[in-house]
Amino acid sequence: MSAFYREKVLSVRHWTDTLFSFRATRDSGFRFQNGQFAMIGLEIEGRPLMRAYSMASANHEEELEFFSIKVQDGPLTSRLQKIQQGDTVLVGRKATGTLVTDNLLPGNRLLLLSTGTGLAPFASLIKDPDVYDRFESIVLVHGCRQVSELAYGEELVARLRDDDLFGPLLSEKLVYYPTVTREPFRNRGRITDLITSRQIFDDIGQGPLDIATDRVMMCGSPAMLDELKQMFEARGFLEGSNSAPGHFVIEKAFVER
Ligand code: A2P
Repeated sequence: MSAFYREKVLSVRHWTDTLFSFRATRDSGFRFQNGQFAMIGLEIEGRPLMRAYSMASANHEEELEFFSIKVQDGPLTSRLQKIQQGDTVLVGRKATGTLVTDNLLPGNRLLLLSTGTGLAPFASLIKDPDVYDRFESIVLVHGCRQVSELAYGEELVARLRDDDLFGPLLSEKLVYYPTVTREPFRNRGRITDLITSRQIFDDIGQGPLDIATDRVMMCGSPAMLDELKQMFEARGFLEGSNSAPGHFVIEKAFVER
């Protein structure tokens, strides 16, 4: 049996010069937990060329969705950005990853901190009713350089707010906080600075960080993750893993430079 499923591309959307998303068929045998990633790729000259991608779709959805950067000379994304409806993509049979709710200790508030395509695992998690059962409040933070890079997340949240099942859950529990660093926007600044200065908590009208009640998932640029990890560890937060739950969990977003 091949290590990969061969799935059909159902639709592709280009959000900016550097971001696109696509939906693909999902083999009924492909199981994953919301927040996990799998190896995704293309067959190039008879060989699989694969990279780790978080599923942006939830595990109750029939189709798969992925959110990707485009790197002009990137071995995979220079090609993957050209896929069209009907093309075949390879999907690794095994999903894995640390951004799953079981890796967190029980808590009241869940902070989902992302930059760029690091939003993808959280796109899956905010479509998981279990997340709303476990936490009283969920704060989804998405940091980007430009306003245009927020579009995927903005549309996702807007669609869920209109959804019969998720609308009431979102309005009761989800705070969406997009922030931009390199042009004017209603929320400005890096996630690290927004937390240190407490600006973000003032803006959303909630209390500051509290290790007793806050649980954190982060996904994005390696530089941001390093800084956030240090920040949280300095406050006594412990990193969780698949072997022991903690106060925070980390995953690098897809990197291809
Ligand atoms: P900035 O514009 O100040 O570099 P990138 O596109 O480079 O992956 O960055 C995505 C977002 O992450 C940008 O808003 C960027 O801010 C921010 N960022 C980059 N490095 C860090 C860091 N070390 N800590 C916090 N945010 C960061």
